[in-house]
Amino acid sequence: MDPNTSGLAQRLAEAGQSHLLQFWKELGPEEQADLTLDLQGMDFKEINGFFNNAMKTSSSSKQEKMDARMEPVPREVLGSVTRDRDCLKDWETVGLHCISQSKVAVLLLAGGQGTRLGVSYPKGMYDVGLPSHKTLFQIQAERILKLQQLAEQKHKTKCCIPWYIMASGRTMESTKDFFSRHSYFGLDKTNVVFFQQGMLPAMDYNGKIILESKGKLSMAPDGNGGLYRALGTQGIIDDMQRRELEHIHVYCVDNILVKVADPAFVGFCVQKGADCGAKVVEKTNPTEAVGVVCKVDGRYQVVEYSEITLATAEKRSADGRLMFNAGNVANHFFSFSFLRDIVQKHEPQLQHHVAQKKIPYVDAQGQLIKPDKPNGIKMEKFVFDIFQFAKTFVVYEVLREDEFSPLKNADTQGGKDTPTTARHALMSLHHRWVLNAGGHFIDENGRRVPAIPSLKDGTDLPIKCEISPLVSYGGEGLEEMVKGREFHPTLMMDEHGVHELVKNGV
Ligand code: UTP
Repeated sequence: MDPNTSGLAQRLAEAGQSHLLQFWKELGPEEQADLTLDLQGMDFKEINGFFNNAMKTSSSSKQEKMDARMEPVPREVLGSVTRDRDCLKDWETVGLHCISQSKVAVLLLAGGQGTRLGVSYPKGMYDVGLPSHKTLFQIQAERILKLQQLAEQKHKTKCCIPWYIMASGRTMESTKDFFSRHSYFGLDKTNVVFFQQGMLPAMDYNGKIILESKGKLSMAPDGNGGLYRALGTQGIIDDMQRRELEHIHVYCVDNILVKVADPAFVGFCVQKGADCGAKVVEKTNPTEAVGVVCKVDGRYQVVEYSEITLATAEKRSADGRLMFNAGNVANHFFSFSFLRDIVQKHEPQLQHHVAQKKIPYVDAQGQLIKPDKPNGIKMEKFVFDIFQFAKTFVVYEVLREDEFSPLKNADTQGGKDTPTTARHALMSLHHRWVLNAGGHFIDENGRRVPAIPSLKDGTDLPIKCEISPLVSYGGEGLEEMVKGREFHPTLMMDEHGVHELVKNGV
């Protein structure tokens, strides 16, 4: 329909976005219909409001560093797998009990675009090259299955851990299709719930929505903090309530070591009566670009490396550790009631953050331009934006080498957080599990491989060893299969037994 007669042109003019129709006459009927549909679904007043607020917040926060307002996480709210070793069993028992009562759900943030990794499909479908060639989705699904099994065995009752999966407009169909093709990896389909986060247009610095082609707006997901709005609009909070869930574990798709529904983390948070908890790893290098959990003006939040001075980043406590060392890994615990309050009361108060990006656009002549410096912004909310509303906030510190190895970049970029580093991290963890359970590895000359794996310079390869989550969730239950035995890599342990795939090869 003609945008002038339908009132669309008028709405766009009022919102200062008339340029979106500048190529209208050049579009075919189908393109016109698509563009009309996209534009009709948009609330321009709201989007312009988001833009103005986000720009205001971003320019005021640039002016002053946070340093003077920051306090580190106090010891009373901190649980640590190394410093509180004596409590670990208790926490795990509490968590496993909650799981056995079907009170715990996991929520996966999988709506990102994975631009840095550079594949055209959702990141969870990525195969980092493990001996089994399992994808990230499969590894996570199998950990859920195993944990259900452990809880059922211990408490002699059937239970389930519902899995909520947030995808975006761009990743939803392929994600759903992948799960369906793989029969939900053995999980009950009714306990895997997909939902879609919102999208927002990219805008130039003057608040004009960017066209990525003559008839198409440049759209991107609204950040992993888009979760809270989507939980409401997609009926997920209601679904959680119907299932009488009490504890939700939220995590990111790209961490190959993620302990989904980690019973010790859940148990720690429950025992502390927390409404909100953050799992962290120790930041040891002052200049590492990782956000740290801390208090600002008495409220918890994540402060990015760029928001503080080097002097503060380098400050140390009496024990020699960095004072602000609670490295955020986007792995959180929420009580259901806290999450419901966020969705129903606080979500509208959350501000979008501004990310300056190089956004391809069509210019006034209709030419596609790929800028070589940032030309506009994307607006995103972050999952940790809600810490400020917590009444009882706790922090749980785990070992990076056991629990955190994110997949962000392609191998071609080398360096950090690549398929290779993710694969190595998982195999080296599983190597340690075998050693802890009393097994040994033999090299091609028949000699025992030293117990301490060497990964320095990236030149020494880890032992090829992979243990299916269906065999062990966190290193438990391996003694019977490995104690006193010697293995040649590649070692694979799965539900069918122990296999040495390639003798004498690493
Ligand atoms: P990242 O910020 O690392 O983004 O997401 P990404 O999409 O994986 O990668 P790049 O930046 O485009 O290269 C951290 C986690 O948050 C999720 C991602 O799927 C990942 O699990 N996420 C991110 C969302 O769920 N929605 C978003 O809008 C953004």
